[in-house]
Amino acid sequence: MLIRNATVVTAGDVVPADVLVRDGTVAEIGRALPSEGRQVIDGTGKLLMPGGIDVHTHLDMPLGDTASTDDFETGHIAAACGGTTTHIDFATQEKGRTLAQALENWHLRAQGKACIDYGFHIAVTDWNDAVAASLPELIQEGVTSLKLYMAYKGRLMVDDAAILRALQIAAKVGLLVMIHAENGDIIDLLTAQLLAAGHTAPRYHAQSRPAIAEAEATYRAIALAEIAGAPLYIVHLTSAQALDAVRRARHRGLPVYAETCPQYLAFTADDLARPGFEGAKFVCSPPLRTAADQKALWRGLALGDLQVVATDHCPWNFHGHKDRGKSDFSHILNGLPGIEERMKIVYTYGVETGRLDLQQFVALTATTPAKLFGLYPRKGSIAPGSDADLVLWDPEARGEISVRTHHSRVDHTPYEGIRYQGRPDRVWVRGRLVVEGGEWVGTKGQGKFLKRDAFHHVDWQGVKL
Ligand code: URP
Ligand code: ZN
Ligand code: ZN
Repeated sequence: MLIRNATVVTAGDVVPADVLVRDGTVAEIGRALPSEGRQVIDGTGKLLMPGGIDVHTHLDMPLGDTASTDDFETGHIAAACGGTTTHIDFATQEKGRTLAQALENWHLRAQGKACIDYGFHIAVTDWNDAVAASLPELIQEGVTSLKLYMAYKGRLMVDDAAILRALQIAAKVGLLVMIHAENGDIIDLLTAQLLAAGHTAPRYHAQSRPAIAEAEATYRAIALAEIAGAPLYIVHLTSAQALDAVRRARHRGLPVYAETCPQYLAFTADDLARPGFEGAKFVCSPPLRTAADQKALWRGLALGDLQVVATDHCPWNFHGHKDRGKSDFSHILNGLPGIEERMKIVYTYGVETGRLDLQQFVALTATTPAKLFGLYPRKGSIAPGSDADLVLWDPEARGEISVRTHHSRVDHTPYEGIRYQGRPDRVWVRGRLVVEGGEWVGTKGQGKFLKRDAFHHVDWQGVKL
């Protein structure tokens, strides 16, 4: 297949070129490549970019008697229609079970369903000596990152000693530790006090988890990583204060990285106060912040203090999930969808407004995630030998995000009514067409599990990520 006359965008370049795809990989990039005997795709007026990589998703994630609404089929179709061709999901350890059992469960979840390529992080929720001893085994499984929670006490949270020990092991074997940085003790106390005072509406969710509780945990996580001599990745960073902690660490030369998510770029805590119970659609943790925080996040993305935009895609229905918290905000299931909207939101609010250039867009949504999580250069670039995960992006397309047209299996979208400019026209996964005219045309079951490289394969000391 020859894609002709598109503007090829990578993290480094924006160049008019033809791209030849053979056997699922990029074979050649050049000018006026011969077209005889080849399927020719006309890319005139379009941008050809590497497929998006979303390194933070929760598909089919169990929670009590239910699970997040998108599984590895519906979530993958939604991802592809949004221009994302690879994601990394969190295989979450159950209390009393091993990490190997968590991985096995997640492999089963994806089996026969996967439509795009995927990898797993492991989320460690029950720390003990046996779990510690099993961490190095993850590398052979191609799972080279793990998440630890500093919040959700009694369910997911682990203590500082566990985090420090995990960081020490990670530094030795090449795992990247990802931290949910919020102070769980502060949150639990404030939540109880708010509820006791009769403050039960969704908007109190933000007050129960103040920005300072995120900043404190971010500083603490960085301190623990520094003691261990380990790299660190902060997930879903939301606030100027937490960003300041990351910036200072990076200025001191520490290998500290952070992501933010589209919801923190598109919404503020004011959305939690929408009339009626609408605010529940915006309940995620950490919570939405202020316009000033949002400005700081955009600045952080533009200046390189934040390296990744991932989604934390964790969809819950409004009816049956979110409305469990009608009389108590702490019972609203936490999380927002976004796997389908990420690229459109970052392009519309980032590139179209001039906050980011095209190379930054690709770096934040594909290339740097691939580098940090052991997938580069197979994924995250358009280069000879890389997988032909490609997005032919129509920068002129305009439309409106709506539950009526989205592909995610969830009964609402917080992005309802938002006007976008720019969307994927065609998408290929390893050279196979999966999206045409913005609609899914691929085959269920074609997605592959990706064994990822250990973190020390990324030369973070030499490469400015
Ligand atoms: O509200 C959120 N973020 N739910 C998903 C779980 C997590 O903390 O990442
Ligand atoms: Zn989290
Ligand atoms: Zn998450």
